[in-house]
Amino acid sequence: MPADSFMPKDLMKKRGLIFSFVAVALLSATGVAGARVKTINLPPDGVQLRASPLPGYEKARISCVACHSAEYMQYQPPTAARPYWENMVKRMKAVFNAPLEDADIPDIVDYLVKTYGNEQAP
Ligand code: HEC
Repeated sequence: MPADSFMPKDLMKKRGLIFSFVAVALLSATGVAGARVKTINLPPDGVQLRASPLPGYEKARISCVACHSAEYMQYQPPTAARPYWENMVKRMKAVFNAPLEDADIPDIVDYLVKTYGNEQAP
């Protein structure tokens, strides 16, 4: 015996109405989503290192902006002297395993202090 035969006629009708309403709502929802072109807005590219003819520039581009953008350098005090930058580079290597050779540290520090620190050309 079909289950529907337990229901009074008008309740069956109502159920049918609700069903078609839900079906239409679902159809239009998926229809709209399917037609819409999905876009993703990426944040703007991270701050790049300031270009420089110093040899440390290329080295810093390899070793210093893999984990964070150059924004971190930009926000250091412009009064920061050579030892400050040297400690910074050594800390990046020792604490965070920044991929750089000890032999490259002087060049990188030189670039940093002259580009972001207190040896900047006026
Ligand atoms: C392996 C990942 C990694 C690399 C490579 C790396 N850093 Fe960092 N750096 C970090 C992390 C993580 C922080 C934030 C944690 C912190 O502030 O101690 C940070 C923070 C900084 C800061 C913000 C100041 C501070 O004390 O937090 C500066 C400036 C900085 N890094 C410079 C550099 C320079 C210069 C190099 C290249 C020699 C470099 N980083 C390479 C991971 C890295």
